[in-house]
Amino acid sequence: MIKKGKNINYASQKLKENGLVAIPTETVYGLAGNALNSDSVNKIFELKKRPKNDPLICHTNSIEKIIKFVKNMPDKAEILAKKFWPGPLTIIFEKNKIIPDITTSNLNKVAFRIPNKSITLKLLEKLPFPLAAPSANLFSYISPTKVSHIYKNFSNNIDYILDGGDCSMGIESTIISFDNDEPLIHRLGSLTTEDIEKVIGKVEFMNSKNKFPGSFHKHYAPIKKLYVGDIDKLYDKFKTKRIGLLSFNKKYDFISKKNQIILSRNSCLKEATRNLYSALYELDNMKDIDLIITSFVDNESLGKSINDRLIKSSYKYDKTEIH
Ligand code: TXA
Ligand code: MG
Repeated sequence: MIKKGKNINYASQKLKENGLVAIPTETVYGLAGNALNSDSVNKIFELKKRPKNDPLICHTNSIEKIIKFVKNMPDKAEILAKKFWPGPLTIIFEKNKIIPDITTSNLNKVAFRIPNKSITLKLLEKLPFPLAAPSANLFSYISPTKVSHIYKNFSNNIDYILDGGDCSMGIESTIISFDNDEPLIHRLGSLTTEDIEKVIGKVEFMNSKNKFPGSFHKHYAPIKKLYVGDIDKLYDKFKTKRIGLLSFNKKYDFISKKNQIILSRNSCLKEATRNLYSALYELDNMKDIDLIITSFVDNESLGKSINDRLIKSSYKYDKTEIH
């Protein structure tokens, strides 16, 4: 069983020895190692079974530290950093040589963020290096928002879990880059596009034409098949199977109550975001269901990020498979 606790000194010692420590953040738990040490970073990729072409995000506790690792800080990046850090925003910069190529999957850019979690900020303050930390789950599985989720993914080879309780925001950081000061959103996340646009004006989104690292077909997915669409129609299609239901705000009469999870009774998108991954873990662990059905939420503010994760985690079925 992986050791867990709130011992920052122990976590820091293990990281200095190039070990791996699961760290809490406000978004999801990360699987952290020394971002400047290729062996530590290699261990992260191996343990997660993550392809080497999917770069890692580096975490530290101050803008001053980040400046040492990047070639320059675009004006708009600095404005966002000052406004939203510590917080659920990741910014991509041109990297200095000191960041090993393995951390950035051979790209000349590096992603940085300052997480908003006091125990982790205290740990980062103590460390003479940034932490590379992807989400602490096996590649393509659901990201962890509770310590119990980490145990579901890994049984050993992590030196410590720094226990920060449940993550308060619940889905990953929003990722942004700047090309000649032109902002581009790479991944929707816990910071809304609306909040970013209030500060720096209009932003563009990555699309399938300019494919970016980390945009895999299947992501954040439970083992059970998840179908997104109209709940009544999906129920009709699958009614001969044992159905689990992930519902935004209400229970449905036609499915056993114990096989339903509600994301937010008050239709609060913030609460739904916080509960999304833990609801997926719970449904995936239920012994008496075969598949999960759900529907999209309103496509505004955090709803866009929830819908993005639902699309990515849903089962990509062959059109002939269901009629
Ligand atoms: O909230 C979060 O961001 C969490 C917590 C632990 O901080 N971390 C996280 O990391 O979600 P991960 O590995 O699951 O997602 C990292 C993604 C990559 O898949 C890629 O899309 C993007 O960040 N990324 C990292 N470095 C990049 C780079 N140099 N250029 C472009 N994209 C990059
Ligand atoms: Mg991840």
